[in-house]
Amino acid sequence: MDNEYIERLRKQVKKALKMDKKRYRHTLGVADTAACLAMRYGADVEKAYIAGLLHDCAKCVPDDIKIKECQEHGIEITESEAVGPYLLHAKLGALYARIYYGIEDEEILSAIRFHTTGRANMTELEEIVFIADYIEPYRNQASDLNVVRAESFTDIRKAILTVTFDTLEYLKRKGKAIDPVTVETYEFYKDTQNN
Ligand SMILES: [Fe+2]
Ligand SMILES: [Fe+2]
Repeated sequence: MDNEYIERLRKQVKKALKMDKKRYRHTLGVADTAACLAMRYGADVEKAYIAGLLHDCAKCVPDDIKIKECQEHGIEITESEAVGPYLLHAKLGALYARIYYGIEDEEILSAIRFHTTGRANMTELEEIVFIADYIEPYRNQASDLNVVRAESFTDIRKAILTVTFDTLEYLKRKGKAIDPVTVETYEFYKDTQNN
């Protein structure tokens, strides 16, 4: 990895996260975990680390500004994003990564873009960042965390199925809005296990 470049990105992200210690700690956890998963699956370790580092770079932007900036940049706001504007931090994060962090690599940008909902048939890097976001060492809430952590390093697609299943169950239980893209992700990864 280009350590000096990575260090500059790290400092910039820390500042953008407004010294939110927990968010920054999570960010470093995702970057490290994404790098480990990239080692496991033979993906590009530096790209995985950078995508992990930047995945939540728009997280601390107030929701009304998120909406405004998406409108200004012609980013589509879906029905579920209008209900839960926090979801927009993924799309906006990809935009910020491009304009504020100088990331031009489309693989990194789309891994940031889809880190919250996933999507059907994700690229390897998208899968890695999606899972790293869920299993990074500082996470401690999810019920199936130990199962998902083990699955992530043996069969990442199975881990994605477990995560999306648990997420949908949680949203249903809490009566929260369900993003149809999460449902599509679940359906796709369920099929990969049946074939
Ligand atoms: Fe996020
Ligand atoms: Fe995250």
